[in-house]
Amino acid sequence: MLEKLNEIEKAALESLAAIADEAALEAWRVANVGRSSPVMSVFSQMGALSKEERPLVGQRANQVKLALEAAFAEKQSALKQAALQQSLASERLDISLPGRPLRAGGLHPATQNLRRILAILAEMGFQVYTSREVESDEYNFQLLNIPPYHPAREMQDTFYIDTGASDEAERQVLRTHTSPGQIRAMRQFSAENPENPPEIRIALPGMVYRFEQITARSEVQFNQVEGLVVGKNITFGDLKGTLAEFVRRMFGRGAKTRFRASYFPFTEPSAEMDVECFVCGGKGCGVCKKSGWLEILGCGMVHPVVLQNGGYDPQKYTGFAFGMGPERQLMLRHKIEDIRYIWGNDLRFLEQFG
Ligand code: DAH
Repeated sequence: MLEKLNEIEKAALESLAAIADEAALEAWRVANVGRSSPVMSVFSQMGALSKEERPLVGQRANQVKLALEAAFAEKQSALKQAALQQSLASERLDISLPGRPLRAGGLHPATQNLRRILAILAEMGFQVYTSREVESDEYNFQLLNIPPYHPAREMQDTFYIDTGASDEAERQVLRTHTSPGQIRAMRQFSAENPENPPEIRIALPGMVYRFEQITARSEVQFNQVEGLVVGKNITFGDLKGTLAEFVRRMFGRGAKTRFRASYFPFTEPSAEMDVECFVCGGKGCGVCKKSGWLEILGCGMVHPVVLQNGGYDPQKYTGFAFGMGPERQLMLRHKIEDIRYIWGNDLRFLEQFG
């Protein structure tokens, strides 16, 4: 019996030495230390032994069983180590390498510029009011004192939307300017308190559309920022002071401005404001076409008819309004000579404004 145990041990250890993977190791465990393995069957044959032999064989069988279990555990951890070494070698990575930076997007220069304008106006007490981009002819023109066939319509070539509306006022257009938002805002505020409508100081930003040939100087869409101030005793002096201050905050404390008389149907009197050319400092250059001045916005005192259309009694209220083109300002500031770059989505252009 003792002899047999020695053989069992020797055979088992030999076959264990040849094992190289976990599946084979598991099969070895079942065959050599499992319940029906040779060494376990020795235990069940003990009853047939003499009293003297029994403790000797029992002790030896225990030794063999423990030795095989220990050899199994050792082999198991050796295989695990080998597998770990192999995966470390094959999945090697250098954690000291710097990471690849994510390519972060940036705000479009027109958006940056628009936000800057709105931030300055907000500091000056203007709240942002957004209005619709699809407007009726009535709001885009008629309520702004531009009746059908008025020559001022020539100034703004219009995209009409084919809705089959027969009534002129009901015709839908892509708004040609942000000015119809003035009527929408005034009507909304005056409806809240028709007897004594609240004062207004709002900025109306957004996209406008013109049915134009696209060239270096004209696009079919661009942003405008409209301003509207309505209250009691608002004067042309308030208009000039507000806009001159806006320009100083936008272009620098030293920025000079001048006002020229102009015409818009929805303001009376009307003006255009120029800022001293920030490219040449007023000396005259290609950007200002040698004049030393750049036109940056239209403005005026809100026409009484427009106040009336908005629900504000022109006997009691006055106001001023202005409209400017942020992309135009952007082009002037950065000497961008072709407006098509702005919506051209060319990264070589956009990335210059990180
Ligand atoms: N709506 C005018 C345009 O698009 C710009 C403008 C001029 C707006 C004078 C105003 C204003 O509010 O008072 O050409």
